[in-house]
Amino acid sequence: MRSLKQRKGFVVKSKRESPTSGRATAQPRFHQRAAEIQAYGTVNHLLRIELEEQVRLEITAQLNQLLADTMTLRDLYKKSHWQVAGPTFYQLHLLFDKHFDEQVELVDSIAERIQLLGGVSIAMAHDVAEMTRIERPPRGREEVPVQLSRLLEAHQVIIGEARKLARRAAELGDDGTNDLVVSEVLRRNELQAWFLSEHLVDAALIHANSARAVKG
Ligand SMILES: [Fe+2]
Repeated sequence: MRSLKQRKGFVVKSKRESPTSGRATAQPRFHQRAAEIQAYGTVNHLLRIELEEQVRLEITAQLNQLLADTMTLRDLYKKSHWQVAGPTFYQLHLLFDKHFDEQVELVDSIAERIQLLGGVSIAMAHDVAEMTRIERPPRGREEVPVQLSRLLEAHQVIIGEARKLARRAAELGDDGTNDLVVSEVLRRNELQAWFLSEHLVDAALIHANSARAVKG
């Protein structure tokens, strides 16, 4: 006797179709896992870019440190953008987001440089949190001067690393990395650090400093 499914027109198979049968199917294959195709901390060796494997290993390791710290600074800017409070809320809210967008671009440039050199870019938040040299802020909100200080200290970490890496890349003949680090990372971080620093100058807002007031 035919089953209910057969009577309703369903095709009933006696065995489950093997996923390795090689037959084309419209069924998406979910929940797949396999071994990595390249381990973190290695470089592949078939690139025709005239840079020795040893050079690419050293440079990609340093670029990954720069990447982890740049991703942390990027996120610190978004935290500051959301949590800022006080009379300068609006201008800082906008400034922090502008700097965030610029750091997003730097993250992509650094990560793709690592891949281009045959390496593997650090990517996920928990890996970044383990690697970064930037101090972890609390989850709660902090006052503007503290936000600015944290951001400036993060810039300082990145600027220090960028200078060191740029010199080392030049020494090893990796001009592309030197150019990226100087022209994009270093210059952008220096500029952002200047914009932040000017907010920490205790300049008069309404009343000019009386000692320097012009008489007449
Ligand atoms: Fe926003």
